[in-house]
Amino acid sequence: MYFDNAATSFPKPETVYRAVDRALREGGGNAGRSGHRGAVEASRILARARARLAQLINAPDPQRIVWTQNCTHALNLALKGVLRPGDRLVTTQLEHNSIARPLRSLEKAGVEVTRVPCPGGHFDIRAFLEAVRPGTRMVALLHASNVTGEVLPAAELGAFSRSRGVLFLLDAAQTAGSRPLDVREIGADLVAMPGHKGLYGPPGTGALYVGEGVELAPLIEGGTGSVSEQDEQPERLPDRLESGTQNVPGIAGLDAGIEWILQTGVETIRRREEALVAQLWSGLREIPGVTLYGPAPGTDRAAVVSFNLEGWDPNDAAAVLEESFDIQCRPGLHCAPWAHRSLGSFPAGTIRLSPGYFNTEAEVEAVVRAAGEMSNVKCQMSNGL
Ligand SMILES: Cc1ncc(COP(=O)(O)O)c(C=O)c1O
Repeated sequence: MYFDNAATSFPKPETVYRAVDRALREGGGNAGRSGHRGAVEASRILARARARLAQLINAPDPQRIVWTQNCTHALNLALKGVLRPGDRLVTTQLEHNSIARPLRSLEKAGVEVTRVPCPGGHFDIRAFLEAVRPGTRMVALLHASNVTGEVLPAAELGAFSRSRGVLFLLDAAQTAGSRPLDVREIGADLVAMPGHKGLYGPPGTGALYVGEGVELAPLIEGGTGSVSEQDEQPERLPDRLESGTQNVPGIAGLDAGIEWILQTGVETIRRREEALVAQLWSGLREIPGVTLYGPAPGTDRAAVVSFNLEGWDPNDAAAVLEESFDIQCRPGLHCAPWAHRSLGSFPAGTIRLSPGYFNTEAEVEAVVRAAGEMSNVKCQMSNGL
């Protein structure tokens, strides 16, 4: 039973497997590198997926969607493509290391970084807005916490950033595909997305949406198949930010994943995940020794449920969940040590269950039963039985 969809979604819709297989077997060309059939088909796959993702996130121009290897790559491209020594950036203490670590090295290079505290692991919008002083170049933060599931008020942050002329980078790792993400409504300048989580594509896929007027320096430069006579990187998007051979089979799978989302409906996916989270939460809450973290169901939250079981180290608990109950989840710090510090769960972290669309109520029941048995074992041990 797979409960680690926040790390990467599994299983994928059947059409995703078929699309990857078809692209590998029947493709046989490198996108943009020639005019033969295979190369043209590969280019078509990339263009179709770009249009499909643009439709999903309401991006005005598909050409401003850049393929990346994952969300981390997209975030690095956005941060390092914009920020220069002397610039000022505001972020939060909830961030994943995919924002926190590049910012640490940018800080060493002379970028001024303000990390707004999140007491109790909760985003404090007043403190955040106060930290965005005149002269701030960018704000960068996640759309939903991968530790607590809390959803941040992206549209409010977007409107505020716009009004102050500050660039807004949104990390949509835990929201793209599983809840509405309208880049125009939100007013985000840069949106980083993993292809392999809520968009149901294969690992090795991701994307960065680059808003109109946002200039980014490339992370890598090289062959784009366009303006090859020119020594310098092309200006045009997406070529400027997409050097080298692209992951065409992966993007073909991602395209099928997005197509499946559009057919199923983001709202249907969101409601299904919400129902599974509510069932998990209410089951776990009744178990002696369980501490649940993050907002309770009923509030706007992503499909991650972090908890601890008294007497159990999260790593040991996850090992027992897998070995004795065949439940796969993710224990520890979830690449977000500061979020756990804010939450009070550092350094051991939590046990994180992240259901996805394909999980069932029966599986959730099995998880709750397993946690109940594990709690019983500890109670009996502490009673000397
Ligand atoms: C909030 C958040 N940001 C960024 C990432 C990094 O995503 P990727 O694994 O696609 O690089 C993750 C992954 O779990 C995440 O949860």
